[in-house]
Amino acid sequence: ARNNYEQGLMRKSGSISAKALRRALEGSKAGVTELEVDQLVQREIYKLGGDLSYKTVPGYKYATCITVNDEVVHGIPTERQFAIGDLISVDLAVMYKGWHTDCAWTVLLGKDSEKENFLKVGEQALWDGIEKAISGNRVGDISAAIQKRVEGGGYNVVRRLVGHGVGRSLHEDPQIPGVGVAGKGMLLKSGMGLAIEVIYTLGKKDVVLGSDGWTFKTSDGSWGGLFEMTVLVGQKQAEILTDWRQA
Ligand code: MF3
Ligand code: CO
Repeated sequence: ARNNYEQGLMRKSGSISAKALRRALEGSKAGVTELEVDQLVQREIYKLGGDLSYKTVPGYKYATCITVNDEVVHGIPTERQFAIGDLISVDLAVMYKGWHTDCAWTVLLGKDSEKENFLKVGEQALWDGIEKAISGNRVGDISAAIQKRVEGGGYNVVRRLVGHGVGRSLHEDPQIPGVGVAGKGMLLKSGMGLAIEVIYTLGKKDVVLGSDGWTFKTSDGSWGGLFEMTVLVGQKQAEILTDWRQA
């Protein structure tokens, strides 16, 4: 758990993440390339006095991970242009005075009621998980809430990739799977920083690593979605640090 001063730095880091994510989602239009969106994010983060958290990942030099359609996570931004019908996920993390926050969101270009329902369920699973991030609960309470919502919607949670603690580093203990059993796992305490992630697919839950060595895709070519927020565990409710909708 973080002291007040550290929580203040996490809040500032989170507000930069939120503004950068808003910028990325607004900028993700047909004809724009993934690298252009990465550049938008990078400029926004630097303008706000933050640094790129992903630079702390050995071998990675981008501000974001961008995944489209059957790609699920860890997509390296490329020259690929977005097109109407694309399901686009932008994942980014900020480091501010050494404190990390991590967030991701998925949007649809155009209209498609099947994909819109897929996104609605994933977003709701994230809010369900966040609702469980209160002191006295356990990691399994978050996981079980996510699993219930995703599977209740007829979709599948990816097993291989998980949420995580966040703060001093981008990835810290505990791991926060999107499936689990309520009442099990690490006890949550007020002030813990958690990156809660819903990583799910419209088809099978299996993912395969792409030939670039980074990007995970669905094994069956179905669509993948990604919703992630960094929160501080609270007494009565979690404090969401990276809410781009209010940035
Ligand atoms: N945001 C990803 C996660 O959710 C991490 C991506 S790190 C990368 O934890 F730099 F390798 F892409
Ligand atoms: Co993360």
